[in-house]
Amino acid sequence: MDQKHLGRKDTVNFGSYYTPSWLVDIVYSLIAKNMPRFDDYTMLDTSCGYGGFLRGTRTIGADIDEKALETARQKSGIYFNHNSLFEIARSQYKLAENEKVIIVGNPPYNDTTSIIRNDIKKTVFLRDADVVSRDVGLSFLLSYNKLAADFVCVLHPLSYLIKKTNFEALRQFKNNYKLIDSVVVSSAVFSATSKATSFPIIIALYERNPLGMDYAYIQQYRFKTNDDHLFFMKEFDTIGHYIPKYPNHKTVREQDTAAYFYTLRDINALKRAATFLEKETANAVRVTKINLPYYCYVDVFKDYTPHVPYYFGNSDIMINNDHFQELAPLFVSRSARNHPKLYLESKKYNDEETKLTGYFKQLLGAHYVD
Ligand SMILES: C[S@@+](CC[C@H](N)C(=O)[O-])C[C@H]1O[C@@H](n2cnc3c(N)ncnc32)[C@H](O)[C@@H]1O
Repeated sequence: MDQKHLGRKDTVNFGSYYTPSWLVDIVYSLIAKNMPRFDDYTMLDTSCGYGGFLRGTRTIGADIDEKALETARQKSGIYFNHNSLFEIARSQYKLAENEKVIIVGNPPYNDTTSIIRNDIKKTVFLRDADVVSRDVGLSFLLSYNKLAADFVCVLHPLSYLIKKTNFEALRQFKNNYKLIDSVVVSSAVFSATSKATSFPIIIALYERNPLGMDYAYIQQYRFKTNDDHLFFMKEFDTIGHYIPKYPNHKTVREQDTAAYFYTLRDINALKRAATFLEKETANAVRVTKINLPYYCYVDVFKDYTPHVPYYFGNSDIMINNDHFQELAPLFVSRSARNHPKLYLESKKYNDEETKLTGYFKQLLGAHYVD
């Protein structure tokens, strides 16, 4: 059921974007596939909204939003109105220490450092010190570890796993849980969120495991989308292996600078951001003559992002370096035309478009979006 009782400000502050039921079905199919006897478990959703994730014989829901719980309480189950990130303990839910628990749900994601709509993200709830993090969704994953859930099957941005800084911020969660099955879907399936730039969301099933998982495990993990695309991080070489991505004025001298380029983050950031800059700014990377073709590559990559599927939105910019080396003059020429102020020579090569398109088709293979 779509969330209907909150205004825009509270919706953003609580992260109250409710989940379509077909995604809840995927959660239960993952659980059923991996644990045939899941009836023995208590299903717990600590950010339950209207309770859409709670199915089974013994269910417990909690939410900070009292109004949401009024709707949830129309269904059977036990409900608590509290802040699930504060004084986290099984006793908050009257759960016995030995009770077998599966945590389900779609915790709020709310990047407290992001600039988007920050004006209305000011409301900060108290959190236990050991779950504090830059993103409230990471805090929720950390809280599941404190509750010692046997399994966790929740939706969260794929970036929590594939971005190394996020992954490291998962601390005790990654040390105690292992991703055992998953399905990736597009954020566009949430009706109330922005469709402009979709990002990948993972429906992830984690098993409590004292060996946990490390980043190498994630890098080789085969992710599957709901429309049957398979991908893994190590499939591609990335631009960061060739050029600096972040401001480098401490290591590159002014007189060696041929151009300025906006900081490189992930592919979705590239869609929104500038590429070449006319002046140095706090976010500018100094581009040397030698590196310039690679930045032209990124500039042209931006033009081709409509052909990159949503599930790479939070990935680094990919490159096939050998193939790029062969075609570098085409990339430079094309970029020079986009940015006359670079004062680079721009030739129109025969078949430029065909060759560049061919490059991206080969780079992305089955992932290329027509
Ligand atoms: C993405 S919605 C998910 C709701 C529901 N599980 C669903 O998917 O349909 C996130 C929910 O988390 C709740 N929430 C946000 N911060 C919370 C906190 N600190 N403690 C408990 N609930 C919280 C919000 O009120 C909201 O209902």
